[in-house]
Amino acid sequence: MLEEISKIKREIENTARNISSREDLDAFRVTFLARKGKIANLFARLREIPPEQKRDVGQQLNALRSFAEELFKEREKQLVESQKRKTPFLDYTLPGRELPIGHTHIVSRTIADIQSIFVRMGFSIATGPELESDYYNFETLNFPSDHPARDMQDTFFIKDDVLLRTHTSPVQIRLMESRKPPIRAIMPGRCYRNEVISARSHVQFHQVEGLSVDTHVTFTDLKSTLVAFAREFYGKSTAYRFRPSYFPFTEPSAEMDISCFLCHGNGCRVCKNTGWLEILGCGMVDPNVFKAVGYDPEELTGFAFGMGIERTAMLRHNIPDIRLIFENDARMLRQLG
Ligand code: PHE
Repeated sequence: MLEEISKIKREIENTARNISSREDLDAFRVTFLARKGKIANLFARLREIPPEQKRDVGQQLNALRSFAEELFKEREKQLVESQKRKTPFLDYTLPGRELPIGHTHIVSRTIADIQSIFVRMGFSIATGPELESDYYNFETLNFPSDHPARDMQDTFFIKDDVLLRTHTSPVQIRLMESRKPPIRAIMPGRCYRNEVISARSHVQFHQVEGLSVDTHVTFTDLKSTLVAFAREFYGKSTAYRFRPSYFPFTEPSAEMDISCFLCHGNGCRVCKNTGWLEILGCGMVDPNVFKAVGYDPEELTGFAFGMGIERTAMLRHNIPDIRLIFENDARMLRQLG
């Protein structure tokens, strides 16, 4: 009997040690402390014990029961404590979670970078409406009446004489109409063309227009201004070339290329193996444009230029598809942050 008591005592110890839930605790009670549990069983067998040992065994059994009861209470208390610890606990002293900070969109940033260079060269910033009339978008810019850009195929018409501007050049006209020369301004803004959307073209894009008008503005001024810009924007060692071109509102007209900064002129996919990248259109303001805004073409000369922002951003950041710029996929935006 005494042997059995010490065996059950060990059993009680082991079982108590492994209690980790309410269920374990209950099982412990049922096994040892309940009316039909192991300790009650031993008490029942007290009858078989010879009278001279009864007192001693009885004492041992009482001690065993108190031992089990103590352990039960202790484990129960611990269980309640640990459950309390598991409930969510708010630490008001923790520093707050930082809110994710957004950043300027790649188009806005490119415009800002271009602007800051020209502002340092003495240009001011002007803007104009995105909805234009034929008069400002074409007529005053010396577009012949049969020019293909006037076709529905290329231009989004809203109503007969209301269209989405196809370039920022109408802002030149509005500026000259509203101010006396000298003028030195750049005009950033959104433009629209009825194009098939592809990796290289989109129905919406941005341009930065530039205009300088005064009494002795020359083609050399145009070149030196644009070369200074290109070296600042694309890097000091950028090589350049001007190719003759045609725009109705400038005469002579040119396109400016810079040496491909991706392959350093060796030829790559982006420069189509030419080593050159076209970055803008430019030219001397056509006398007809001056006449249209009431300026005297005998007295004044000027240069103008226009560059595509998305193209500029794509070159600078090696973005392969213009659609990525407008889709606003957060993974893309984050990379350009
Ligand atoms: N407006 C022209 C274009 O959209 C660009 C340009 C602007 C060319 C000013 C010459 C002078 O292509």
